Amino acid sequence: MKDNIWDLPTRLFHWSFAAALIVAFAASTREWFLDYHLLAGAAAFALVAFRVVWGFSGNRSARFSGFVRGWADVKGFLSGLMRLNPARYPGHNPAVGWAVIVMLSLTAVLGATGIIVYSGEEMKGPLVGVFSFETAETAGAVHFIAAYSFLALAAIHVAAALLHDIIWKEGLILSMLTGKKTVEGRVEAVAERPLLKKTAFVLFAAVTAGAILLVIPGERQASGHTPALVEGEGGPRAIERNMVYEEECGSCHNAFSPTLLPARSWEKLMAGLGEHFGDDASLPEETTSEISKWLVASSAERAFSEPSKKIISSIGDAAPLRITETTYWKEKHSDIGNEVYSRKAVSSRTNCAACHPGAPSGSFEDRDISVPRG
Ligand code: HEC
Ligand code: HEC
Repeated sequence: MKDNIWDLPTRLFHWSFAAALIVAFAASTREWFLDYHLLAGAAAFALVAFRVVWGFSGNRSARFSGFVRGWADVKGFLSGLMRLNPARYPGHNPAVGWAVIVMLSLTAVLGATGIIVYSGEEMKGPLVGVFSFETAETAGAVHFIAAYSFLALAAIHVAAALLHDIIWKEGLILSMLTGKKTVEGRVEAVAERPLLKKTAFVLFAAVTAGAILLVIPGERQASGHTPALVEGEGGPRAIERNMVYEEECGSCHNAFSPTLLPARSWEKLMAGLGEHFGDDASLPEETTSEISKWLVASSAERAFSEPSKKIISSIGDAAPLRITETTYWKEKHSDIGNEVYSRKAVSSRTNCAACHPGAPSGSFEDRDISVPRG
């Protein structure tokens, strides 16, 4: 007989969880899609919170106690599977039962490491400054491994579901939509836990709200660029533009972002303005010292930005006077031919703002790049 196996929240969970992860995976390919990746990831994270509580309050097949079984059962199931005659279970079989646990755990790991990467490596969101760049890089590696483990498991899961439907005609996939499946015997009733049920929904709403707050983009300027963050007295602060700097140092070329060279480079450069790349760029002492101070306060060591961290680690103890001579800069621009730099709207590789309209606020993100065509 057909029996109601999957309760509605479990079915809704199943398909929204799948959709959230597909979107998260699809949006992980480009930095441009980071916002979508974050929102989908946040949704998946909140769904896990819901599913964990639902695992104690849903119907028989939704509860962990109903499908998490010991090794003997798993072994029995798997050896049946090898003989192409697996035991039938009304709800999750012992193998998929554990797959559910692993998928939920991996998603929790993905959510936690994702938040660390976002704040410590991408340097965005309200937790900037909480995790170090190194911690975030480690978290990034874990995030990557967890993501591909999830993908592998999900692929096996889909293949197994198809197998059950095609070979054993169990109508499994349809049952995840309708809730109904042909089973031998009845699904036992379980004690209702209405309070816990409500908690699952409240938790879902709370985690969704919390996750969205954690991942909403930081401050955006009216121009649409997200300014680089630098160390301030009370924690990270958006970099302030300095008009004296922009006027004095932006007359022959664009005003380079202070976040892309270490303080020692800026000090050296400011001490040698009389012979500045073949030009005399000297300024009155007072102006020099004001600009120097501002550059040093927003230098690469003090900036919360991925390029800053990477430039610092790529130059060792050196004090380069050119951003364009750091290994990091050269690698990032290695695909760009000389023809591009000679285009009229670009004219030179040091004309950063031609391709990085957010350069004056220290924003060099992928989605903030547009290379002029002519
Ligand atoms: C009189 C013109 C002039 C002024 C004023 C001037 N510069 Fe320059 N600057 C140059 C020239 C020329 C170069 C070399 C540009 C090139 O190779 O394309 C240069 C290059 C640089 C570079 C290296 C760019 C790179 O990564 O390749 C930095 C950094 C720099 N200037 C900082 C400053 C600062 C800071 C000030 C203000 C105190 C300043 N400049 C004012 C003419 C000037
Ligand atoms: C002709 C256009 C062009 C010019 C000029 C240019 N860039 Fe870029 N820059 C790019 C492109 C395109 C990328 C993306 C490369 C990639 O990711 O493969 C990039 C990447 C970067 C990145 C890495 C961004 C990230 O997070 O991955 C930084 C930082 C950067 N540029 C800084 C600068 C600075 C500083 C200057 C000026 C000294 C400059 N660029 C001049 C086109 C340009």
